[in-house]
Amino acid sequence: MSSKVILIKPYSAYERQPAPAEDADLTHVERGSPAGELMRRYWQPVALSSEVGELPIKVRMFGETLVLFRAKNGQLGLLEPHCSHRGTSLEFGICEENGLRCCYHGWLFGVDGTILETPGDPPESTLRHSLCHGAYPVHEYKGLVFGYFGPPAAKPEFPIYDSFEHPGDRLVPYYITYPCNWLQVHENVMDPAHAVFLHTRISFSHFADAWGELPEMDFVPTPTGMIYVTTRRWGDNVWVRSNDILLPNLAQVGHVWEDGATPKAFGRVAITRWTTPVDDTTCRIIGWRHFHPDADPRGLADESQCGPESVDFFGQNGDRPYEERQRIPGDYDAQVSQRPIAVHALENLTRCDRGVAMLRQLIRRQMRRMAEGEAPGVSAVRSGGLIPTYTHDTVIQVPPREDKQDDAALLREIGKGITDIVVKGPQHEQADRHERVRALIHAYAESRRETVA
Ligand code: FES
Ligand SMILES: [Fe+2]
Repeated sequence: MSSKVILIKPYSAYERQPAPAEDADLTHVERGSPAGELMRRYWQPVALSSEVGELPIKVRMFGETLVLFRAKNGQLGLLEPHCSHRGTSLEFGICEENGLRCCYHGWLFGVDGTILETPGDPPESTLRHSLCHGAYPVHEYKGLVFGYFGPPAAKPEFPIYDSFEHPGDRLVPYYITYPCNWLQVHENVMDPAHAVFLHTRISFSHFADAWGELPEMDFVPTPTGMIYVTTRRWGDNVWVRSNDILLPNLAQVGHVWEDGATPKAFGRVAITRWTTPVDDTTCRIIGWRHFHPDADPRGLADESQCGPESVDFFGQNGDRPYEERQRIPGDYDAQVSQRPIAVHALENLTRCDRGVAMLRQLIRRQMRRMAEGEAPGVSAVRSGGLIPTYTHDTVIQVPPREDKQDDAALLREIGKGITDIVVKGPQHEQADRHERVRALIHAYAESRRETVA
């Protein structure tokens, strides 16, 4: 880790020492790096199913270029790009019934890297049995293609979180490429203060005016990672919002256009997104926008805008003219401009950044476990059943206390009360968790009203 560098006098830029290096352990992802090896232990999305058609496509993960293809029998393969014969790229290969055929001399590769044919060889040749082409396992789920890039013996079951199967949700896949390191994009999800400034006060309200109210903030560990808890006063309402980090690099975000105006209990996920490492200085947000009438009360969602390099809310890619991005910056501009790899030794973290610091600690803890030869852990994967997640928006009616300090204390108390129900409730093993959590929140809201009255 680099040591801290601070300047303490006005006009002192000249005294700046050469910039310290980034925190390589947390940020670097190429082969053998601690963060890269950690993420390799989890299934990672590499493409949208809709992109894998008649032709193979090139994908990049962890600094490796690979070729993804769909054999005519429907199976997907993820192969090293250079043909095991003499290196021609398999992106020019032909998809056949049970594999991919190199264009140069016709070797045929199965989806698992098995060499099925070396047609220029005499029939009695056994060469193909003594070799295998490099391949990674693939799993397709709800319009996304996932790869597993870790040691075969440690391959986990594909985890199904409750939000993936939420009744009535339509999951629409999308991705956006960011020309910067993965961690600064991922940790933005644990930085609720930026919603107040970047998304509301700095230029215009990207989502709704209530986001500009500085909330009471807390950060709470969960069985799968952590959440932030923001609790805001909006008129007579108290709006409690949490976003999930599912370690190491999956995150979930609540309603995009929530405005705190209407009471609701345990409104669920609007975005499920992995921040995948393409290489040290490029990453992709890839996942689903969830479409559900409850998640879009003002009718602002637009499925047609979700797909390759696009999603249906403001400021998520670099497509806008530069001057407009300067005048009305969005998430993309704020995060990419932190440097190709943000340098932690140059930061000055504040109380607002407790979530970012906690996320880094949790990732370090996983890396330590791996260094000690253990599984990275924390995932509450259970065979059968769904894994609970904790992202939600809850709005309850509790009028303000006269004194502002007293009201801040009330907000913290309500934030904690609701979070205890969502995270610690004994209902996690139950199929009807949503209904049970909602019922408990309704009862809690009722009790608060009685307390106030
Ligand atoms: S280089 Fe691929 S078959 Fe010869
Ligand atoms: Fe944001």
